[in-house]
Amino acid sequence: MRKGWASSGVDLHLEISATGGRRRGLEDALREAVRDGRLPRGTRLPSTRALAAELRMARGTVSAAYDQLVEEGYLTTRPGAATEVADVTPPAPPGVAGMARPSLPSSPGTAGVARPSPHSSASAPPDRPTSPPEAVPVHDLRPGLPDVSAFPVRAWLRATRHVFATAPSHVLGPCDPRGRIELRTALAGYLGRTRGVITTPDLIVVTTGFVQALNLLAAVLPGGPVAMEDPGHDFYRDVARRAGREVVPLPVDGLGARAETLTREVAAAVVTPAHQYPTGIPLHPRRRRALREWAAGSGRLVVEDDYDGEFRYDRQPVGALQGTAPEHVVYVGTASESLAPALRLAWMAVPPTLIGPVTEAKLHADAHTEVPGQLVLARMLETHDYDRHIRAARLRYRRRRDLLRARLLGPGRPLPGVTLAGVAAGLRALLLLPEGGPAEAEVVAAGERRGIALRGASPLWHDPPVSAGLLVGYAAPSERAYPYALDALAETLAELRGGAGRSSL
Ligand SMILES: Cc1ncc(COP(=O)(O)O)c(C=O)c1O
Repeated sequence: MRKGWASSGVDLHLEISATGGRRRGLEDALREAVRDGRLPRGTRLPSTRALAAELRMARGTVSAAYDQLVEEGYLTTRPGAATEVADVTPPAPPGVAGMARPSLPSSPGTAGVARPSPHSSASAPPDRPTSPPEAVPVHDLRPGLPDVSAFPVRAWLRATRHVFATAPSHVLGPCDPRGRIELRTALAGYLGRTRGVITTPDLIVVTTGFVQALNLLAAVLPGGPVAMEDPGHDFYRDVARRAGREVVPLPVDGLGARAETLTREVAAAVVTPAHQYPTGIPLHPRRRRALREWAAGSGRLVVEDDYDGEFRYDRQPVGALQGTAPEHVVYVGTASESLAPALRLAWMAVPPTLIGPVTEAKLHADAHTEVPGQLVLARMLETHDYDRHIRAARLRYRRRRDLLRARLLGPGRPLPGVTLAGVAAGLRALLLLPEGGPAEAEVVAAGERRGIALRGASPLWHDPPVSAGLLVGYAAPSERAYPYALDALAETLAELRGGAGRSSL
């Protein structure tokens, strides 16, 4: 622990951990200070110059830490004014009720994710193939799959051997409906450390995927419609509807989900704050605040789908929304993106008021998630093999996104006017087609002729008769195959330049 007194502006004792980097340590220390109330809202923080001098850090490190916490909603900043602690109520530890709520922010100006103009509607293969496609594509650029050829087989086997060698009766014995305590304990630590989630092992429920988490929540939420992002994942809209829920659109613009449109009638809002699916936009701090306020003010719930929160490439990931409102946000994470969807392993951090009903629902759904996989994942977390895998995957996917951008948008671009939406993050990118250029369905069909499986994005809009573009998954091909897949995509787009592809439809 490195201790420092930041006495310029505020007199605050920051305990900055020596591990994990100085910027990370400063962020954690400031986050903690806001959370535990030592830095109450409205507190003016020292200038980056003053704090940097005080802590003997580079000014850029301090300013990067401030930026990160502004993004997460802990701090606010205005041009020409000091950075202040935001109007965020320090979350009480789970189980403690009665948090005062901040006031509503002014509604943000919206840059807007342009709603694509209507063209033909493309019926696309599901984002999450549940069975092998009929004709196996040469290049799979659909979203929904990590690079399974890079699955950490050795670490998984090592952990499996350890688990069976040390605790065979645990492996094969009965289990709490919430999941094995080893995994819940490891997850509580990991999620707190990497995503800023505030929870305890008692409040974690291991599920067989986000899909099951949504089903369980649909069964226990109070009456009323569920708001889901528009655009958003169409499969999960279907899941909620099949579970008997009315689904209403939660519009998305250039700042993310428009939280200010939520009404009291809505029972829950399902959102992807770290990296909006599919636009790739992180939720703006004002919107994060508006979501918290809506949930707290109306006793409603936010479901935070953190499907790819570990994968941000241009900066450190924005911390989980749940960390600023654990009483009102259900956090859901998954191994489907980080390891493999076939594992069927995901986790929820549930507010104390819901843990009883969610546990009951899980018990009646399938008793519990299969145990060996849970214990193996717990071991991978304990040994940090999981962290190592994530770090390597992050580098790999970052390179792939850079390559995608360079190949499609750089010099020699195959189809002028193509753009990529969103920030550098995740395993997929929304590729917007140029106005007057080929329609989504044409590109998908032309890709198919070249053996590329592509996903048209229009079904992701609640009202889908549009040509939105493509949701390109750049993770699925192996490292070796990826450049060829990219070439094939570029050639497909080049073929359609100037409407050349239209006649073939
Ligand atoms: C938006 C979104 N949420 C959640 C998930 C994870 O789903 P599951 O855990 O059910 O495999 C995915 C996986 O592709 C996704 O795209």
